[in-house]
Amino acid sequence: MTQTILERAPAKINLTLDVLSLREDGYHELRSVMQTVSLCDELAVELGAPDWRVECNDPAVPAGEDNLILRAARAYCARADIRTSGVRVRLEKRIPMQAGLGGGSADAAACLRALQRACGALSERALLEVAASVGSDVPFCLLGGTRLCTGRGEKMEALPPLAPCSVALCKPAFSVSTPALFRAIDAHPELTATGAADAERAVRAGKLPRGKKTNRFEALLTAEHDALVLALDCIESSGAALTSLSGTGSACFGLFAQESDAARCVQTLRDRGFWAALAHPV
Ligand code: C5P
Repeated sequence: MTQTILERAPAKINLTLDVLSLREDGYHELRSVMQTVSLCDELAVELGAPDWRVECNDPAVPAGEDNLILRAARAYCARADIRTSGVRVRLEKRIPMQAGLGGGSADAAACLRALQRACGALSERALLEVAASVGSDVPFCLLGGTRLCTGRGEKMEALPPLAPCSVALCKPAFSVSTPALFRAIDAHPELTATGAADAERAVRAGKLPRGKKTNRFEALLTAEHDALVLALDCIESSGAALTSLSGTGSACFGLFAQESDAARCVQTLRDRGFWAALAHPV
């Protein structure tokens, strides 16, 4: 018998992202305040399908085993000892890819939530372990909200909900390789996220974080990409409280106390040729 479950996959932004050290397993110790936002993909997950496949409105999304959604589905079924002929997922993609907005991780996490809703076969702890085996950001995307993520990204501490605000998201046209950027940061200990500690303190106090330079990868990318400099300048001069790169980019964002200011910022970014979207914390 087939069963179809609908699930949303909200994008994430990194309000702060500090890279602390290189670990023996090749990953890096991180310290990142992460937040889910209203921009989302939508999934229809069909359990008991004739095969394992992703169908997406965007042809750039891999349909087969390269897709994190299928890795998550297979990992869930293996861990829960569910024998099924397959899982098919119809994916409506809205989160830009290779952006640092966690699109692939969000989709994988949404698939895990859908399977858990349908089967209820795993404890929360087992579900989080399956999520971590799929990718470093997947445990956060599984739970969402406002959290401090440490370790590889899988250790999480719930923080107070982000103060009410609007988010202007922007994606410059270039994309970056996450592993390459993590390798590059090891060679640049002088590049630090000088604003990260203050921003984390503000979030802990329930205040809207302010400032910039809260992401350690930002200086590495602004040195090479004028488009990112332009986008960050545009967001800051539109009156953002916090302006930052998200993840390893190339997307960046601004937090605004007033929605009208965020909406104006999005329009200005679009006028300059950027992909931009208005969102809210969720
Ligand atoms: O875990 P995930 O597959 O999302 O990570 C992608 C890549 O990002 C890893 O292969 C690694 O190069 C880098 N990474 C890292 N340290 C982390 C998370 C990711 O070095 N904590």
